[in-house]
Amino acid sequence: MNLKKTLSVALAALFLMACNGKQAVQINNVHKNGVVVTAHFLSSEVGSDILKQGGNAFDAAVAVQFALAVVYPRAGNIAGGGFAVIRTAKGESESLDFREKAPKAASERMYLDANGNVIEGLSQTGHLAVGVPGSVDGMVKLHQKYGSLGWEKLVQPAINLAKNGVTLTKLEAEKLNAYRERINQANAGKTNCCYIKDADFITGELIKNPELENVLIRIKNQGRNGFYEGETAELIISEMQRGKGLISKEDLKEYQAVWRPALIGKYRNCKIISMPPPSSGGIALMQLLNGAEKFNMGQYQFGSLEHIHLMVELERRVYADRATWLGDPDYCSVPKDKLLSDEYLTNRYSNIAMNSKSNSQDIKAGNVEVIESFETTHFSIVDKWGNAVSVTTTLNGNYGSKVIVEGGGFFLNNEMDDFSIKSGIPNQFGLVGGKANAIEPEKRMLSSMTPTIIEKNGKLFMVTGSPGGSTIITSVFQNIINAVEFKMNAQECVNAPRIHSQWLPDKVYAETGAISPVVKKELQNLGHIIQEQSRIGMMANISVNPKGQYIGAADTLRHADSKAIGY
Ligand code: GLY
Repeated sequence: MNLKKTLSVALAALFLMACNGKQAVQINNVHKNGVVVTAHFLSSEVGSDILKQGGNAFDAAVAVQFALAVVYPRAGNIAGGGFAVIRTAKGESESLDFREKAPKAASERMYLDANGNVIEGLSQTGHLAVGVPGSVDGMVKLHQKYGSLGWEKLVQPAINLAKNGVTLTKLEAEKLNAYRERINQANAGKTNCCYIKDADFITGELIKNPELENVLIRIKNQGRNGFYEGETAELIISEMQRGKGLISKEDLKEYQAVWRPALIGKYRNCKIISMPPPSSGGIALMQLLNGAEKFNMGQYQFGSLEHIHLMVELERRVYADRATWLGDPDYCSVPKDKLLSDEYLTNRYSNIAMNSKSNSQDIKAGNVEVIESFETTHFSIVDKWGNAVSVTTTLNGNYGSKVIVEGGGFFLNNEMDDFSIKSGIPNQFGLVGGKANAIEPEKRMLSSMTPTIIEKNGKLFMVTGSPGGSTIITSVFQNIINAVEFKMNAQECVNAPRIHSQWLPDKVYAETGAISPVVKKELQNLGHIIQEQSRIGMMANISVNPKGQYIGAADTLRHADSKAIGY
């Protein structure tokens, strides 16, 4: 990075830190044998212990997924879903879709009243918001195909954490307190669960979860049957009956995670390996990168008017496409090749002007407001053989539907809100959609999760991903641009302040310090409406340096509990 660019990156990061009062982060987490980066130091420890015991990256991913369900219950899960993008040491890639599905009894108008109006909150909180969970089957399939250690060994660390207890960090205590009333309300009448409390959670408090421990023991002993059948399934069905939820025994029994070819794209001399539909992430990311290359984004100063304006103009076109064309490929025909064709994108971006702002209303009609709420979690892992896995997993909102399975000690997702519950009506991320993402029985809801692996000159270069709902795609996009164009290292990419725009609303969301006062004025002169947001995304990066060493980079600036652990 040249001096001017380095200085502007450092200044922006410093400004961000000063404004947020957050601490500086370690930037040289360099390892030879493998690295695990997760949102919680305990799950990073679990993953790196598995690597040290001789497990591969995929073994570690399974152990991390279960550990996160215990230590990071707001997003880590056994009753949510997610995506894994993998690249083996031999350079083969694949993706695993363990996204939730709509229950068989779901219907297009299930969240509308008799007049066709949306019943507020119904798709976000409570039993009706829950999609058929995919995480446990996803982990079983990942292990069956790529695991090397015994299954029991991978579930055991999570069992130990649930049994011995997890000491609440400040962040987790604060988050539980922020949601305590809503969790209590959604679980009225239940008492025997560690997450239901009349008093505040306290930093340093030990949280034991014997109900979840028992569920995990069943998963350890019976694999997928320990969740989708038998006692755990009965607990879920009883919970559904208690709150008039739709998930049936058959829904659980028949749920299957799906292996899909990874979505492969190219950006300069990099191969981008990402997630195909039902995620919108891969397609949107490739579209954005195509635009960045067309306009030679790297010619502009990081954080300059041109850099930010161009990102926003690309993003609003890409998110308009997302709303119109993307959905579960098993239920609608996604025009993937067309959306990614150079001819289409040349035309799509042809009306971008560097000296004037386009109007989102002209791109497509409609208007909505974004609600700042994003909980999902991402982890990245590489092992000593060079296997890499990038996993984004979610309950959707913080603590999902807020409903805890009585006797199970785990939260159920609220992923149904990722469907377009009514054409043109925004979901919790302000995203709109239409027919392609309308609710149908057993259909998967469209996602923004963008687990991604990057090769440079044929070699593993970076493993990356982020939580953040609709901001996931733009966070991953900026991460790649920052690495490739602005030559930032893995930690600089993680730390760099971010912006986000998504077609509707016609706004630019910016982290504190992401836009200098001068550039802010220039953007406003072009007509951009800028809104500050406390944080956008939370990257978990691993990059490979020219010596073949791994650099782990956790986003401790935005989330102090996250950690990169390698050896
Ligand atoms: N639940 C957030 C997403 O999948 O995009």
